[in-house]
Amino acid sequence: MKRLFVVAALLAANVAVADGKAIFGSKCAACHGPDGKGQSAMGKKLGAKDLSASKLTAAEMEGVVTKGRGKMTPFGGKLTPAEIHDVTAFIKGGLK
Ligand code: HEC
Repeated sequence: MKRLFVVAALLAANVAVADGKAIFGSKCAACHGPDGKGQSAMGKKLGAKDLSASKLTAAEMEGVVTKGRGKMTPFGGKLTPAEIHDVTAFIKGGLK
């Protein structure tokens, strides 16, 4: 029974990361680049941060994504809290 639970938890984690990756590709990569380093044309122009080097905690990241900051637009009304959580998990997981 315990083992079944672990497998289910791992599957759930994988699904969350997969969603996060898809969200990152469609909503974030234009500015932050596909690898999160902010080297896209738009990213350089706006000064997007290198997310792979971010020192923010997951909770702080969710705050920035929800409310926006500087030239980054807020995603609070565009993504659900669960989606924001997933995309943050993808960044914290090393953008892979
Ligand atoms: C319109 C371009 C743009 C888009 C789209 C965008 N960002 Fe940003 N992002 C920026 C810029 C510019 C900054 C730097 C903000 C500042 O001046 O502090 C930033 C900062 C951040 C930070 C703070 C990093 C740090 O270490 O301080 C996080 C986290 C972040 N973005 C995540 C995301 C996520 C996740 C998405 C997609 C849901 C996203 N961004 C979409 C432009 C963008």
